[in-house]
Amino acid sequence: MNPQAEELNSALKKHPSLFPMLSEKGKEIYFPKKGILGQTAEAKGKRINATIGSAVRDEGGPMFLQSIKSLVQLPAQDVFPYAPSYGRKDLRETWQKMIVKKNPSLKTAISLPVVAAGLTHGLSMAGYLFVDSGDEIILPDRFWGNYNLIFENAYGAKITTFPLFSDEGFNAEGLRSCLSKPGEKKIVLLNFPNNPTGYTPTKEERQEIVSALKEAAQSKKIVVFLDDAYFGLVYENGVETESPFAWLADCHENLLAVKIDGGTKEDYTWGFRIAFITYGIHKGTAESYTALEDKTAGAIRGNVSNASHVSQSLLLKGYSSPTYEQEKKEAHGILKRRYDAVRKVLKERDYSDAFAPLPFNSGYFMCIQLKKADPEKVRKRLLEAYDTGVIKDGNLLRVCFAAVREADMPTLFENIAKACKEA
Ligand SMILES: Cc1ncc(COP(=O)(O)O)c(C=O)c1O
Repeated sequence: MNPQAEELNSALKKHPSLFPMLSEKGKEIYFPKKGILGQTAEAKGKRINATIGSAVRDEGGPMFLQSIKSLVQLPAQDVFPYAPSYGRKDLRETWQKMIVKKNPSLKTAISLPVVAAGLTHGLSMAGYLFVDSGDEIILPDRFWGNYNLIFENAYGAKITTFPLFSDEGFNAEGLRSCLSKPGEKKIVLLNFPNNPTGYTPTKEERQEIVSALKEAAQSKKIVVFLDDAYFGLVYENGVETESPFAWLADCHENLLAVKIDGGTKEDYTWGFRIAFITYGIHKGTAESYTALEDKTAGAIRGNVSNASHVSQSLLLKGYSSPTYEQEKKEAHGILKRRYDAVRKVLKERDYSDAFAPLPFNSGYFMCIQLKKADPEKVRKRLLEAYDTGVIKDGNLLRVCFAAVREADMPTLFENIAKACKEA
């Protein structure tokens, strides 16, 4: 094993549980501080610096083409050079503060977030570090289909599901039962607000989830991936507004919480490709968090090298804007009104012979279960006869109300009901 990996592993072994939680790849990875990057860092500020792999102008600063530069108001230095594999330090510090502010129940020390190239990439890097071929990943049966490619195709994981709902609420018993099966290490993936259902547990259900995980951590190593892509988009009272990370980050020394979040949906910057990976564990020290950050940055270095610098700089600027909070409130208000419009249609019109909604209270989506019609036929009929597109997700139809004008909501559901009759 590379001595730099061994160094990081020794740091992680000082924590009672962290080291055995890593995958084989996770154990071997390190950030190559002593290679090109380290030598470049040592030469910083030298009059003649022939180290970095980018072109420099005679007068200093990165070379750039004016036709590209003229499109962006930021200084060239914040746009054209590579960002660190860890991400911009100032952005990482800002995001850490934002996590703390948005999750008031989070009282413990957490790692400095490492920047990934979008949540998909963050999830993939979590897979790299913690998932071995044949490992099971436990998650509710309604999940974002891309988890198959991210974890099963790329890392040979086996997705094991439990029913998301029991009656009208979160099925904490289902989670408990999966956790109680034999095995010394369990990997769990939670995604709230959920894609595709648009469900977030209530505050009581969140407590049950945390208890189930804490209970399992008494006798097993538990790694929990928290896909917080839709964080903040909650529309009903009584529904949990904080990430489970707030409680799991300091829950038990056998439980590592891995928060994957970012600007994609939270800040309406889908194409920026910026997300964060943040760790929390009971008894986590600065040394153990740094080792986890180094391993994460190493995995990123060997994968996409680093995430878009211009996107990181744009986000950082945006977060410090005096109108940022107000603009976010306004965007949330628009989505909430669309959510309310769905609720209103479902309350005022009786579609019970055509479909029934699954529980939903947050996020971008809601799902309907068709009574008799075949979902694929209904989807096709909607396209052909009603100028309307929805997603068939297994035996459900997924409706992205976040993408539909409030005024169009009654027509959308009317079209679905008609297509159900005709399909
Ligand atoms: C649950 C969930 N996680 C992650 C993502 C992907 O985020 P990103 O575009 O940042 O990769 C999505 C996007 O649809 C999602 O629904």
